[in-house]
Amino acid sequence: MSTGEAAGLGLGVGALLVLLVPVGDWVPDWGQAGLLVRAAGCITAGLCVLLLGWLHRILFAPLELLRGPDDVGYIAEGGRSKARAANEVRRRRKTGDLPPVYPNGWFRVLDSRLLQRGEAKSVSVLGEQVAVFRGLDGTAYVVDAYCPHLGANLAVGGRVVGSCLECPFHGWQFRGEDGKCVKIPYSEKVPEFASVKSWPSCEINGQILVWFHCDGSDPEWTVPEQPEVTDGRWVYRGRTEHFINAHIQEIPENAGDLSHLTQLHTPPITSGVDLRYTYSKMWEFLRHHWKAEWAPESEPNTHCSQMLLRHQLTVFGLHWSLLDVNVVVRQVGPGLVYMVFEHSFLGRGVLFQCVTPVEPLLQCVSQTIYYQANVPALVPKFLLTAEIIQFERDVMIWNNKKYVSKALLVKEDSAIQKHRRWYSQFYSENSPRLQHQRDTLDF
Ligand code: FES
Ligand SMILES: [Fe+2]
Repeated sequence: MSTGEAAGLGLGVGALLVLLVPVGDWVPDWGQAGLLVRAAGCITAGLCVLLLGWLHRILFAPLELLRGPDDVGYIAEGGRSKARAANEVRRRRKTGDLPPVYPNGWFRVLDSRLLQRGEAKSVSVLGEQVAVFRGLDGTAYVVDAYCPHLGANLAVGGRVVGSCLECPFHGWQFRGEDGKCVKIPYSEKVPEFASVKSWPSCEINGQILVWFHCDGSDPEWTVPEQPEVTDGRWVYRGRTEHFINAHIQEIPENAGDLSHLTQLHTPPITSGVDLRYTYSKMWEFLRHHWKAEWAPESEPNTHCSQMLLRHQLTVFGLHWSLLDVNVVVRQVGPGLVYMVFEHSFLGRGVLFQCVTPVEPLLQCVSQTIYYQANVPALVPKFLLTAEIIQFERDVMIWNNKKYVSKALLVKEDSAIQKHRRWYSQFYSENSPRLQHQRDTLDF
């Protein structure tokens, strides 16, 4: 229940109580006093419902935190708005010698929960506009959004008919499976070549994903299923969304950048996300400690890599083992990460971190947590909050940095170079580059 809904419910119940509860009636004809008692009763009842709504939200409702593109990681000083600060950083930023902007692989387009049967949504991915729709049989499809007839956006006002999407402009119908036009309502014949591009897609772990390959090749690997999510042992407990102004590779590269863990993520989550203040004296009695190892996986999963992350907390230098957490961070291709949490008594769960390029230097990062159904929702919500605070510190770096292709690395940074070699498998000769995008005015 959102705060707005809770407030609405509170007011509604309050109004009902005014009409139904004869609070003033048992006050023996006190006139004004009776009215006052009645009003006070209503306000108290309304406040109780609000409080219950708020408690329900804290204890049971999933945590949902959706950040806008300018919300995190920019310094707005001198009376500038965040939006202006973000714009200036983007305009002045040196991009560096960038790798191709769209690697080959699977990318999340939408959470399954957000697409009902018969619903269509317009989504920006990999510099394209796609229409994601769910046929009446329940299957999700992804097709190019622009109608080949006269260019209307199929997902903006388009209607789902069976397993087809009907254009809102003149009613041409396109089959989700292969994008072929199967009906033109005012024409006897449908031209053989009338079709939209249909993207290879799959729906797994509560997400709808598309396969991108610059040459249009078929998927080279499948998206692994997290069985506990499919069979309902782990349940949905929240999600967050961030937009990051950086090249996609910068985000997973932090898994190979083991030394940044100490610098960026040692200050406690209580000291916040703004890197100017995270080392404040007030919180120096609390410290996170990280141990990590990163390595690529072997055949047949060379498109995967793993980081084993061990977290400890110290309070005044004393190790507080209650918050020892082990996380297996598995990167699957260029855009998907599965973080599996293990805790001695707080149970197990998974956080899916998906990075999808929206434009060459704008990434949508969605993080969705599923956790053991029998563990109180507060636990995964706390873990997600802690992860997001740490993550937003990285966002501040990503949003303001440039990509350095010939990085000045020391021996202890060797995993960064290894990670770059591993990640380069997702680029091929025709992978789109930023310069190409600029030349063709697509960017
Ligand atoms: S633009 Fe789509 S049917 Fe005409
Ligand atoms: Fe980080």
